[in-house]
Amino acid sequence: MTAMPSSEPSPTDKTERYRALADEIDAVLAGEPDRVARMASVAAMLAARFEHFLWTGFYVVGAAPDGGPGDELVAGPYQGALGCLRITVGRGVCGAAAARRATVIVADVDAFDGHIACDSRARSEIVVPVFDGAGTLIGVLDVDSAELAAFDEADGRGLEEIVRRVFAT
Ligand code: SME
Repeated sequence: MTAMPSSEPSPTDKTERYRALADEIDAVLAGEPDRVARMASVAAMLAARFEHFLWTGFYVVGAAPDGGPGDELVAGPYQGALGCLRITVGRGVCGAAAARRATVIVADVDAFDGHIACDSRARSEIVVPVFDGAGTLIGVLDVDSAELAAFDEADGRGLEEIVRRVFAT
């Protein structure tokens, strides 16, 4: 018999937990169109449900403050220690997910070239792109953990489904 790690749910459990949480988030946000309110609620509900989520929140696509070319990622609603305010698209894990328009899972942040350390306790990270109903990238959802390799494809699918239901429908 192989024992499951005690602190992390098995992939099956995780899938079920994400599905149940997605339903709860839908119920809480029913009738609320404001994007900031929706992001803040998603961050709070995810952080409360998964105790190994050290930093949970959104970076939102926005213009550079100096009117420079290209978009940046600007801190949005989050739960956790003070995060950096702006990230250039293409930089760090968040910028990579935004540039690729795809989920990025990093098992060891020290091994990711260009990782931006906001909370020095962070050891692993997952970043999921967030699209609106027209398919436009509006930001990313970033989750950090103090544990190595805390995230896998089940987290990717669970978080992608939540942001799809909350921001693209
Ligand atoms: N680690 C991220 C930066 C954001 S903080 O983790 C909150 C990155 O490399 O993009």
